[in-house]
Amino acid sequence: DAGNTGKQGYAYYMEKEINEQPEALKRILTNYLVDGSIDLGYEGAVDKMLTSFNRVCIVACGTALHAGMMGTHLFRKWLGIPVETEMASEFIYSDTVLDKDTLFIAVSQSGETIDTMEALKKAKKEGAACLAVLNVRGSSISRIADYTLYTDAGPEIAVASTKAYTTQLMIFYLLVLRCASLRGRMTEADLEHALENLRRVPDAITQVIAIKDDIHRQAKEVIMASDLFMIGRGMDYLVLLEGALKLKEISYIHSEAYAAGELKHGPIALITDGTPVIAAATQTKLISKELSNVKEIKARGANVVLLTKEELKADFAQSDEYHVIGLPNLDDEYMSFPEIVALQLYSYYVSADKGLDVDKPRNLAKVVTVE
Ligand code: G6P
Repeated sequence: DAGNTGKQGYAYYMEKEINEQPEALKRILTNYLVDGSIDLGYEGAVDKMLTSFNRVCIVACGTALHAGMMGTHLFRKWLGIPVETEMASEFIYSDTVLDKDTLFIAVSQSGETIDTMEALKKAKKEGAACLAVLNVRGSSISRIADYTLYTDAGPEIAVASTKAYTTQLMIFYLLVLRCASLRGRMTEADLEHALENLRRVPDAITQVIAIKDDIHRQAKEVIMASDLFMIGRGMDYLVLLEGALKLKEISYIHSEAYAAGELKHGPIALITDGTPVIAAATQTKLISKELSNVKEIKARGANVVLLTKEELKADFAQSDEYHVIGLPNLDDEYMSFPEIVALQLYSYYVSADKGLDVDKPRNLAKVVTVE
């Protein structure tokens, strides 16, 4: 446990690390916002890199892969360029096209994951511009990448990653926003509005932590469950991939995230009386579609917990058929932060209430150094 400062009164490191997120995110904003504008460091060298590529390839494993998928979403949204995310273990053998106009981004908490490192070596060999998003300074991947953007979340001890994910997300927001503004894809006013939302993220997370008792009550309902589904669309779906990973890692409940529109193409066959489902609906324009999915699974007996934002709660209030958790209001594009923290807490309580070793789940390692 070198380098950490103990559990500081928390029952588990995971709980401590969930609670450290507001501070960790404030730190990133302090580190990367200089006089109100985004400064990615290296005396403008990263900026130079950001103006020249025409496609992006993001590679990672596990939780870092989920952060990378959100990065892909943001690049597409704000830059309108081709972007893909690939699992590092698959990338190594794939024929993904890379060249000097490709920006390759490796994401890793530890900076030591062998597959991510091998993928980065391959990208470098093929001439891509290589960035890394890492937490641990001086790690192996940082020595291979051209430049590294650090999340500086501090040591993460629990195997289930929490603050590494939210800080990786924050780096992606800053990176993509910087890129969009350098390339004239975003007005000053829009950029300022985006930064205002990002500055509100730490408090939004604190507000989620403040409703932990409600989340805990919902978690108690599923401790005997063998399967659980999480459904959502767009960004919600991307967050749920990470939420479902958290739950399966530490609670041993088989949990699966599904894009709500894909439900009909398979998983709905598994929804029967009492199947627990978490439905996330924080994206205003997708609400009505999500609601019709919720109706479909309710009709088949699912027990639904709905995650939405406070200001959208009224859309759901007419129904007492499901429990609604209202997350603090941010613009839709930033709801991923409070949403994942609610799912981290949920997974944490399920695991702790089952009496499992939250920080050291069976069969899992914090750092995977074998292929
Ligand atoms: C392991 C850990 C995960 C982590 C993944 C990638 O599976 O248990 O929490 O997301 O490796 O690790 P990295 O250090 O590259 O982010």
